[in-house]
Amino acid sequence: MSQKQIVEAVDDGGETLTFLSDNSFLIPNFPDGIGIDGVRSVGIRDDDILICSYPQSETHWVFEITRELLAGGIIHDDNTKVQTFMERTSEEELADLSSPRILNTHLLMKHLPDDVCNKKLKVIIVLRNPKDVAVSLYNVIRTLPFANYKGEWKNYVRPFFQGKFAYGSWMDYVLDWEQVKKDNPDLPVLTILYEDIKEDQMREMRRIYEFLDVKRTDDFLSKVCNNTTKAAMRTLKEDDSGIKVFRKGGVGDWKNWFTVAQNEWFDQLYQEKMADCPLQFKYTL
Ligand code: A3P
Repeated sequence: MSQKQIVEAVDDGGETLTFLSDNSFLIPNFPDGIGIDGVRSVGIRDDDILICSYPQSETHWVFEITRELLAGGIIHDDNTKVQTFMERTSEEELADLSSPRILNTHLLMKHLPDDVCNKKLKVIIVLRNPKDVAVSLYNVIRTLPFANYKGEWKNYVRPFFQGKFAYGSWMDYVLDWEQVKKDNPDLPVLTILYEDIKEDQMREMRRIYEFLDVKRTDDFLSKVCNNTTKAAMRTLKEDDSGIKVFRKGGVGDWKNWFTVAQNEWFDQLYQEKMADCPLQFKYTL
């Protein structure tokens, strides 16, 4: 029996979202995506770097910063993390990339090639506070032709946090990676938070270059900052597909979207599920 099946998830207002059920896990129905079995069989190179993130957490930004820190030069091109997005691209495209590759995925560790652990790849986990993620994802998902969603925010929030949509619940995602860190103490993992980069990009870039085992000057870091502002990236990287990746950015837009009742409901859910999580997320700066 096929492991893949198109499914319609339903929000609280009865509006549907189209996803792909792949190995019993919902992912976007990417045209030409290789899916979970394809990702599992990607050949991993010793010097690959892997960025793992829940959607809409600033993967584009961290990808670009990491690329420039690793290269030691400022890059002006329209390449984005989409070219190395494992479940969305083809095995041939991934194989054609020159080393060191910066791969990225929204999947869980159990969906990735065993060589990620065997070869002790450097893994950068990118996370963002869940309220801003919900708002960001709600806005982008309505522009994705393969999701085909027209629902209202008031009907989106509850099923989103209950994990009814692609990539499952944000909370399960965070807890899963926390468990991976505990179970694999010798796997090099760096956790980066969106809010921390917004607060002090130079500090967070130093954490990234130390993790990558390279050394970069403050003068160079300033240039990377200037080349990776949202405005600079929007100009260079946004294509004409109609998918608005560089929307608003920042910390705290959730306050313009969450009702008092939604906020109270979510805070309660968060306390129940995340009580033991050591990570602290910032909801304002
Ligand atoms: P918003 O929808 O809140 O604007 P990802 O890169 O994982 O797809 O996440 C996209 C989110 O990160 C968007 O959030 C986008 O604006 C924000 N983002 C991407 N690049 C950014 C940058 N250089 N500076 C600030 N925010 C950025």
